[in-house]
Order: sequence, then structure tokens, then C-alpha cells
Amino acid sequence: MNKRIYLCLAHMSEAGWEQKYIQEAFDTNWVVPLGPNVNAFEKDLEAFVGENKRVVALSSGTAAVHLALIACGVGPGDEVIVQSFTFCASSHPVTYLGATPVFVDSEPDTWNMDPDLLEEAIKDRIAKTGKTPKAIVPVALYGMPYRIDRIMAIADKYGIPVVEDAAEGFGSRYKGQVLGTFGKYGVLSFNGNKVITTSGGGALVTPDEESWMETMRYATQYRESYPYYQHEKIGYNYRMSNICAGIGRGQMTIVNDHIAHHQHVQKLYEELFADVPGITVHAQPATGEFESNYWLCTIMLDSSVRVQGQENAYKAVIQGAVGGAAGVIHMADTPTTDCQPNDNVEAMRVFLDAAGIEARPLWKPMHKQPVYKNAPAYVNGVSEAMFKVGMCLPAGPYVTDEDVRYIVEKIKEAIVSRALVIDNDLLDSLTKQAKASPRLRQNLDLRNTPDDTSQRMLNAIEPGSVVPVHRHRTTSETVAVLRGRLVEDFYDGSGHTCLKSIELSPDGPASALTVPMGQWHSIRALESGTVTMETKDGRYEPLGPEDIIGDDTRV
Ligand SMILES: Cc1ncc(COP(=O)(O)O)c(C=O)c1O
Repeated sequence: MNKRIYLCLAHMSEAGWEQKYIQEAFDTNWVVPLGPNVNAFEKDLEAFVGENKRVVALSSGTAAVHLALIACGVGPGDEVIVQSFTFCASSHPVTYLGATPVFVDSEPDTWNMDPDLLEEAIKDRIAKTGKTPKAIVPVALYGMPYRIDRIMAIADKYGIPVVEDAAEGFGSRYKGQVLGTFGKYGVLSFNGNKVITTSGGGALVTPDEESWMETMRYATQYRESYPYYQHEKIGYNYRMSNICAGIGRGQMTIVNDHIAHHQHVQKLYEELFADVPGITVHAQPATGEFESNYWLCTIMLDSSVRVQGQENAYKAVIQGAVGGAAGVIHMADTPTTDCQPNDNVEAMRVFLDAAGIEARPLWKPMHKQPVYKNAPAYVNGVSEAMFKVGMCLPAGPYVTDEDVRYIVEKIKEAIVSRALVIDNDLLDSLTKQAKASPRLRQNLDLRNTPDDTSQRMLNAIEPGSVVPVHRHRTTSETVAVLRGRLVEDFYDGSGHTCLKSIELSPDGPASALTVPMGQWHSIRALESGTVTMETKDGRYEPLGPEDIIGDDTRV
């Protein structure tokens, strides 16, 4: 394949409505940041989002976040609660206003703001500062709806307005209602890579006529009604141009097709990856309440998966910006940071890039960004763990079924097939430890079926102990039982505990065991001192020395 497959490229209506509306703007000389296209685009957006909302079209989604915060009265010294797992535009406007973002981590199934942690953060901020946060900003990550009913209930309890950052979630729904219409304000983005585009642009969904008018004023330098320019408040030049709005009007004729396409691509990924060990497609909770637009499709790569070229990951400072940015980046001094995607994820990105496929890591959580090192953060490990294993794949209107198949094939090709050998020493060690430690025995008895979400927590794991890593559909399905050096956190899929895992080095002695995803449910250490493994079909099989688990190849 010699074409390049991008994450999400701008795609115009076949009827060419975008150009017709732009032509009209030129014909009538409405080449300004207001005009009939802007008005009509706003009406289209209002009809689309419903709920009697009023919409202001703006120059960007970032501008929409900024104006929403102003409307919530955010000012110097205030705090605003922001989902940590997001693009920087959700939180940067907080700092434009001299306020401080307080970051809240995500829940494991939606990857969006964890309602329990949100409430904990609110209570703690009130206790520590004596002030209530001025706004709450949940984010529809990659289009996934947040648990907005719970978030709204908590926000209402404490009287805090919600600014929904639905920049990536245009057209996503929760219980049938379009995102951006639940909170007091809703942010939309029409950047070049979004579900629809105006080349660059955004909009703010406002609750009523007065908020709409006030947002308009702030977006237009806040002028007083005098025959000359009189300013009593600081405003901004944030209105959308009539040219861009012409594109937006055209895009609204195909928005539903775009959303259906993204959802179709997601389904295809889910089908094609279903039997690929070590890869989990992130999917919306199957409760019937969530309808993601799947702006980008995302997968998780189990940390035990070896990818071609992994040994070269992060060896050199990269010469371009992931995600484009037209090369406008500050050159880094070092190829690595203290929080980055796993080597296999970076190797996969590089492999796919060489195969003509744009893939990129998930957003690095804001609480791990150096620029926010002093911001308060309420974390549970979810966003950081996901950042380490996650990756965005192409999903836009130009991505064909054939492209998706090609992408999946390339990903499979990139994975180095492997298997691990259990040796006598390890078997002995497992047996001894299981006998010696009641806690361990208890842990080993945990049954981790894919739908068992009420898994018990494990706390810190001592080096040398034996750890069944919980199976969870959104994370690793690999059971890791390893002996050796503690190397990294391992997300246990429950959203609360990060386990320390002991990772196998392919060059090291065969003294560790991992179980490839999908093959085994759990490991049991029986009182009798034998170690057995439960297979998917419920059989227990004894493990012996030199047992080969998984593929037929030895490391
Ligand atoms: C979560 C999120 N919020 C806000 C924005 C800002 O939108 P814009 O790029 O239109 O300024 C973006 C994306 O670009 C985003 O992904």
C-alpha cells in the first residue's frame, strides 16, 4: 500500500456544499468574522444538539473553553476541576485566567472523569482552601461519553457549574442526549482533524439567551453601545469567520454519515482484533447508555507483547511532532521523559509509521505534564496506566474497510511471537510461596473472568511474590506470574491499584511465566503444593517443568 492512512482527515460533502457556501460568502463579500454563514451554522448546530440550547460559533474549541470559564466567573486565585486525561486545551484556559486546574483522574471503562474521585477532590479542595472550585470540566475522550448523570449530581450537590469539553465528542450521546447539552456550557471543536471541520473552529453551547449574548460580547472584544469604541470589560477576538462557517454548514449535511463511519470502523477493529492476544480495543461500556462517536479508535497493547524494533524505542529525539503541529515544536533535549508510553507502544508507532499508518499515543495526562507539576491532582493510576499502553488508530472518513484490515494485519506483523518456559525453580518457588503466604493463597484463588468487575484489590507486591494480574476487558488480559526484578507498574484493571510487575527480559533466564491473553483465566496454587492453571473452558491443568505456554516458540 503506498498511500498514507491518517488518523482523521478533513472530508468534504460530495455535493460540494462547503465550496458553495464559501463562494456565496465571496460573492456577497461577507469575508469577515460574522455573517450569514455564521448565523446559519449556529442554527444548524442548535438544531443538531437540541435541548433548546443557544450556540456561539467561535474561532476554536480552546476559545470556547476559555469563554465558558469566564462565564462561570473563573478568575485569579480560583480553582477549576479538570479531567487529567485530556488534550491541553481543556486545562490551559484555566491558567489564562490566573486560576489553577485541579486534575481528577479517570475511571477505567470510559477513561473519563471518575465521579467518585471528583467528589473526593471537591471535598478536599473545600477543606484545604475554604473555597469551592469554580467549575468542573469533564472531557469526552476520543468521543467517549462521560458518566454525566453522576457528574451532574455531584456538581449540583456542591453548586458547581459543569463545562462539558465535548471537543472530541461532537454527536456522541449519553442516554440519547447529545454531549455538550448536559452541563451549563458545552465545548465543541471543528479543528481540521475532528468529526466535522471548519478548517479551524469551535463553538460554545450556552444555556439561554442571556448567556448566549454575553458569550457573543466576550467573543467580540466586549464593546459598549456607544458611537465609538468603549470597553468596560476585557473581551477577545474569538468569533468564527464567515468563510469557515461556510465549511461548517456544508459539513453539517454529512455529520451523521461521518459519525456512522467512525462507529463502523470501531466495530471492524473490535471484530478483527478479537482474537489477537495482547491487544484490547477500547470500547464503550455495554450498558446501552453510551453512544460514542469514536472520533479516534484506541487500543491497548499489553506490556508483555514484544514488538519488532522495541530495543530501539526512544533511542533518539524525534524530528517531528506527533500529531502534526506543522512541525512547530520546541526541540526536546532528551529522547525520554519519566512518564512515557511503553517501549512496545513506541515501537509499534514507529513500525506503523513506516507502513504508512499514522498512529499516536494517548494524551499524556495533565498531572504528569511538567508544566502542571504544581497543580493539585487526585489520581488513581488509570490515566497514567492507559497512557503507557494505549494508542490511537485511524478512524476518519477516508479510512476504508480495507485500510482497517491492513492496519490490523500490520499490527499483527509487528508483534514478535513468543512463548515462555516455566522451569523447575519457578515451579518450586510458586509452590513454596503459595504454601507460606495465606494472603498469596487467597490472591491466587481470585477468579478473574472478563466480566468480574468487582475484583479484589491487591496492595503492594513484594519482589519474588506471585501475582495474578486481574483480567479486565479494558486492559491487559495477560496473567503475569513472575519472579525477579520489579520493573514497573502494572495496571490491574480495577481502577484503583497499580500492581508492581516483574517483567520478563527475553535475554534473561527463563525463570518467569506469563500467560498469553485469552488462553488462561487464572493461576491457582493448591494446598497440595501443585500449581495448576485454569483454562478458558474451565479445566484445570497441571503445569510441569518445561511447559510451554502460548505459541510454540521459546524465547
Ligand atoms: C479535549 C479537547 N479539548 C479542547 C480542544 C480544543 O479545540 P481546538 O483545537 O478547536 O482549539 C481539543 C482539540 O483540539 C480537544 O481534543
